[in-house]
Amino acid sequence: MTSLPTLNAEVIISHSSRRIQTEERATLKWGCLIIEAANGRKKDNFILLNDMTVRAQQNSPTLMLSHSELGKMWLTFKDSGEAAIWYTALDRCTGWLLADFYTDMDHIASGGYGDVYSATQRGTGARVAVKVFKSDPKRNMRELMYSWELRHENLMCAVDILLAREHAILVSPLMNVGDLQKHIRNHPNGVSEDKARGIYRQILSGVAYMHDQRIAHRDLKPENILCASNQDGTLVAKVGDFGTAAFLSSENFSSQSRR
Ligand SMILES: Nc1ncnc2c1ncn2[C@@H]1O[C@H](COP(=O)(O)OP(=O)(O)OP(=O)(O)O)[C@@H](O)[C@H]1O
Ligand SMILES: [Mg+2]
Repeated sequence: MTSLPTLNAEVIISHSSRRIQTEERATLKWGCLIIEAANGRKKDNFILLNDMTVRAQQNSPTLMLSHSELGKMWLTFKDSGEAAIWYTALDRCTGWLLADFYTDMDHIASGGYGDVYSATQRGTGARVAVKVFKSDPKRNMRELMYSWELRHENLMCAVDILLAREHAILVSPLMNVGDLQKHIRNHPNGVSEDKARGIYRQILSGVAYMHDQRIAHRDLKPENILCASNQDGTLVAKVGDFGTAAFLSSENFSSQSRR
């Protein structure tokens, strides 16, 4: 087993704990990518920052968060009681390590981007894939943003996103069969027409949803389709790896997506 990355999580965006409403007037540099991605629609996000200032006014349901690099944002809560709970949570989040969120980490893939580990999410016990990017987190924003924003049963959606100073980490449900390329290799005589049709239908359903949002994947290939087997033996296929996906204006969309 390779040595596990230990890093301080500075920003944690977690679907498992999404309770904070972000305000549209947030002026985050990175965060706004996430918040405003879906055509400016208001989105739920849960963001914890390590070295940030949190200002809470007495009896006010709004917290103002400011961060030297990320700018300012406001979180509005139902009431000051809820604000106090989150204030305590924000206070506690400094110095967390990857191992505080995930356990049983095992290396499953590497590439130019970094490494992917299988792991168990603490708290929920869910099996997840933890993709640790090597490069500056800003370079992976698009992939993180689409994995977060696109919610469809045939798309590989993020469960958690962690941003540290030097790494971005994308956590998604673990697909126990692996990528479709591996599945094809494991079946040298092919699979039945029915099974193949089922896989294709799911891929097309995921891609159609992306196109509905005017997002082109631009790197569809077997390695980027992740598969898991259900208890009844049927295969679930999800389109993943949004590293080269792009939002296209309506004029560009028809020409680019036909390439
Ligand atoms: N959720 C997952 N469940 C199981 N395996 C996964 C999952 N996510 C990624 N993997 C494995 O990790 C590999 C690399 O992941 P991904 O396609 O997201 O990275 P990449 O940026 O395309 O890397 P590369 O530089 O190799 O193209 C996948 O082909 C797959 O084998
Ligand atoms: Mg890939």
